[in-house]
Amino acid sequence: MKIMVVGGGGREHAIIKSLKKNPEVTEIFALPGNGGIAADAACVPIGAKDIDGICAFAKENKIDFAVVAPDDPLVLGAVDALEALGIPCFGPRSNAAIIEGSKVFSKNLMKKYGIPTAAYEVFSDMDSALRYIETAPIPTVIKADGLALGKGVVIAETREAAANAVRSMMQDKIFGESGSNIVIEEFLTGPEVSVLSFTDGKTLIPMVSSMDHKRALDGDKGLNTGGMGTVAPNPYYTDEIARECMEKIFIPTMNAMNAEGRTFKGCLYFGLMLTPDGPRVIEYNCRFGDPETQVVLPLLESDLFTIMKAVAEENLSQTEVRFRDGSACCVVVASEGYPQKYETGFEIEMPADSNIFVAGAKLSDSGALVTSGGRVLGVTETAPTLEEAIRKAYAQTEKVHFKGAYHRSDIGKRALAALK
Ligand code: AMP
Ligand code: GLY
Repeated sequence: MKIMVVGGGGREHAIIKSLKKNPEVTEIFALPGNGGIAADAACVPIGAKDIDGICAFAKENKIDFAVVAPDDPLVLGAVDALEALGIPCFGPRSNAAIIEGSKVFSKNLMKKYGIPTAAYEVFSDMDSALRYIETAPIPTVIKADGLALGKGVVIAETREAAANAVRSMMQDKIFGESGSNIVIEEFLTGPEVSVLSFTDGKTLIPMVSSMDHKRALDGDKGLNTGGMGTVAPNPYYTDEIARECMEKIFIPTMNAMNAEGRTFKGCLYFGLMLTPDGPRVIEYNCRFGDPETQVVLPLLESDLFTIMKAVAEENLSQTEVRFRDGSACCVVVASEGYPQKYETGFEIEMPADSNIFVAGAKLSDSGALVTSGGRVLGVTETAPTLEEAIRKAYAQTEKVHFKGAYHRSDIGKRALAALK
């Protein structure tokens, strides 16, 4: 079986390492992959948004199965285009990927089908949005409608900050057309939980829950990032809450997408907040999370490729999806300055034969692995207890070196406190 994985980050590295465990999988191509992924797959310099290039490559190389991992190509219709060539895919079609691609769509979907989420208003006109803010409860949350590299959310603590956020999205267009429409929503509080699920549109199976750490610095200080580390399972997500989410959020979302004629097949990601009034959806993603995948897949006991094929063939109900007991911790090592300006090109030293998922690195002309991005890699360890997983992950992280490397030193600390 020749498999193609579209994408080139730590998430894709984790997916590829899991796919490789299946003996049927003889060849894996990563488009574009990265310098670390090159150890596990053949990297092809075709960008994840180059739908024509992806399709031409798949056809020429007689790809048997494609996994489209990032949001952009999914929203742009990579799966639709590959399926039109007769290539089976894991990932939603464009008309279902809109659940992440448009916040206005997802909020309206939740309202229509009674799925619990923050109260909200949609605006396409800046003056109405500014007028609304004059009396809105503070803090308030401003969201650009479209994809904005995970940066399209502003939590405004004052009316002035809220008005500035509205102007920068709608007038200055800092996120381009993504900010033509905005959502202004109620500020919620409570622990956050990420739940990824496999669904073929008929059956939905949640994966082990996880906790992201989005801020750059210890103690949840500093700027928002793509994620500085994760642990799984998330101790706040009890069996009782899991049952409630399945009944009130997960299954209703799958059914709602079917009722809209937008059957979702692939990995549906629920970003939840456990508020004093119950679980609420903060966001949907149409794909595996990054770096959630780096802790979730190492705990998957069943075979990933078998599950992905079952999702594509719509017989997930006949397929075993089992997770190991125990915990996982992923510590992201980033370039000094990330998520703002940073330098790249520094040689990376890291322990061999460990669960390191490489995100922002390339091979230099001399074949050395050098930094090329903000989040450079994630070090994952699993263990019977969360405490042990955290200890092991940090022990490995201490062995990673490159100029300007930094990481948070408190990944999993809040989760551990919640367990006690
Ligand atoms: P997102 O970019 O959609 O992942 O949102 C970034 C972060 O903003 C989330 O992880 C939450 O911490 C926070 N957030 C989003 N919506 C709300 C809300 N309605 N209330 C409180 N925090 C929120
Ligand atoms: N870690 C959050 C995301 O993948 O969107």
